[in-house]
Amino acid sequence: MEVQQTMRMLVTGGAGFIGANFVHQTLREHPEYEVTVLDALTYAGNPASLAPVRDDIEFVHGSVADADVVDRLVGRCDVVVHFAAESHNDNSLRDPAPFLTTNVVGTFTLLEAVRRHGARYHHISTDEVYGDLELDDPAKFTPETPYNPSSPYSSTKAGSDLLVRAWVRSFGIHATLSNCSNNYGPYQHVEKFIPRQVTNVLSGLRPKLYGAGENVRDWIHVDDHNSAVHAILDRGRSGETYLIGADGEKNNREVLALVLELTGQPADAFDSVTDRAGHDLRYAIDATKLRTELGWTPRYTEFREGLAATIDWYRENEAWWRPLKDGVEAAYAAQGQ
Ligand code: NAD
Ligand code: TYD
Repeated sequence: MEVQQTMRMLVTGGAGFIGANFVHQTLREHPEYEVTVLDALTYAGNPASLAPVRDDIEFVHGSVADADVVDRLVGRCDVVVHFAAESHNDNSLRDPAPFLTTNVVGTFTLLEAVRRHGARYHHISTDEVYGDLELDDPAKFTPETPYNPSSPYSSTKAGSDLLVRAWVRSFGIHATLSNCSNNYGPYQHVEKFIPRQVTNVLSGLRPKLYGAGENVRDWIHVDDHNSAVHAILDRGRSGETYLIGADGEKNNREVLALVLELTGQPADAFDSVTDRAGHDLRYAIDATKLRTELGWTPRYTEFREGLAATIDWYRENEAWWRPLKDGVEAAYAAQGQ
């Protein structure tokens, strides 16, 4: 009988949306890993998202920009998966400072520890580093698309990606990168588009659409993002960038129409509000490299089904999101959104 060796994995940002789902999936499907989570528990980190697995992981409360904590944890890990970030464009327009500290300095701090200790590193990033595409342009982002970020959020993510590439080339660290499109699913903060509209409906508030709602996002279920990350951890080549997407392009009006239909609301029961400054028009991912080189395929191919399951999750887990709701809506209302 083959005995599988246990690997120690450090997951940063594991109390956030994608990180928490990644921890759940890892424990469910990859028993070869022992998981430690490092999370600063900012407004976006929620210990309740890890409550179901609390006894199966080690949780460390701290920042990825704290060199001492990071050195200690990376020093006793085989693999680092770096999700921690300030992640919301609208917040980055209100106050960019924490985006620089966490996304740029935090990544630098991890890379230096990885360089000292020789751990394998995977960097989680976004398709927003490529800027946006025109609505009528048939092109999609590929790993060769030049970086052209628009917002403080996406520019700090772009900066962090470039640090990783430089640490591979200059110092020979063993690292891979992935840039994924917009995620949806359970445990997503109510500041983001889909959970905001769903919890508005569940709260008796009208959904809020920025501008004309023509902006296109390429939606992927969070479990598909995370299964792709595992494929890269298992079979990805060091120094390579993999784009993660599941051909889920929809404009915001279409997504909102589906939310309204699935929650039994009239089609016109929403408000058009002030548009986001510098609002990217369209994102679209060409995931050919991930599919052909690593043999990855998504499980959630029907957006309607994934969205319906996500709406059910928010219905059944009001205790998780309710405490966040009033503060988020007050901040949006203050800027006419
Ligand atoms: P999130 O905002 O839900 O979670 C971020 C987590 O990081 C939180 O738990 C927070 O407490 C933690 N954190 C923040 N600053 C920290 C610090 N200094 N030290 C340690 N922990 C800190 O974000 P998310 O949506 O889960 O995104 C996770 C990653 O995926 C990010 O790197 C983001 O850029 C990337 N990404 C997100 C999407 C998306 O659609 N949400 C798409 C592509 C890529
Ligand atoms: P968001 O979830 O913030 O993700 P990102 O900015 O990373 O794409 O927004 C997704 C889209 O939804 C984006 O085009 C902005 C739009 N949006 C609204 O129309 N209304 C809202 O209340 C929010 C939060 C976003």
